[in-house]
Amino acid sequence: MSEKELVRFKIDGLEVEAERGSMLLPVALDYGFEIPHLCHHEAVSPYGACRLCLVEVTKNGRTRMTTSCTYPVEDVIEVSTDTDQIRRARRLLLELLLARSSRAELIQRVAKEAGVTETRFKAVDDDCILCGLCERVCREVVEANAISFVNRGDRKEVAPPFWDPMACIACGACVYICPTDCIKMEEKGDERTIVRWKRTLKMQKCKSCGKPFAPLFQLNWIIDKASLPKDFYDVCPVCKQMG
Ligand code: SF4
Ligand code: SF4
Ligand code: FES
Repeated sequence: MSEKELVRFKIDGLEVEAERGSMLLPVALDYGFEIPHLCHHEAVSPYGACRLCLVEVTKNGRTRMTTSCTYPVEDVIEVSTDTDQIRRARRLLLELLLARSSRAELIQRVAKEAGVTETRFKAVDDDCILCGLCERVCREVVEANAISFVNRGDRKEVAPPFWDPMACIACGACVYICPTDCIKMEEKGDERTIVRWKRTLKMQKCKSCGKPFAPLFQLNWIIDKASLPKDFYDVCPVCKQMG
């Protein structure tokens, strides 16, 4: 088995090592450094949307500020995670986020931790911080490609194409990953709704216990994708386990 190639560098003066190709943010977090971050998740690729994970990287005598979640680690770099310049930039970003999503508890908490409790910017009041985690999990993990970024500037948002959620299998992955909890899932009777995308699907009822357990559309989608037997999901996972 080939050995992993390691690179060695410094974070706030501490010698650290990491596998070549790793991004700086997860490495720094593993070493216990506290770097705020809102659009990073280990299950999906880095995107660099929130810019809160700013650090300063010095290489060959030149220092620049960069987002650590999108910076691949290198030998001989020196990283600073908490300078005056970083704190100033972060506070500005958090003021903008507070204006956008003042009701989101996570934003209030992260802003407060950075000493930001008020914003000088005009309130927008949208709980979505445009972190793109929902879009990435849907495309990269679920592979349903049901939602994407649409429009630009002030009108930018995540939505199903042409507001038609026909590709959404209502699996709920985006609901779980959304950091501000603005994608709600409701289950009433034998229907599941992903409220933000206006997608309602009938649930499959277990042929053994009779309880609805997952959207039929989702189950058929998995059966097709994984070439499973057509009756694979006739019985819910709980009943299946009990034999
Ligand atoms: S619920 Fe719909 S939009 Fe969300 S991850 Fe699943 S398929 Fe994608
Ligand atoms: S809906 Fe949630 S996960 Fe999707 S971009 Fe907005 S804040 Fe991020
Ligand atoms: S976590 Fe790096 S830009 Fe959001």
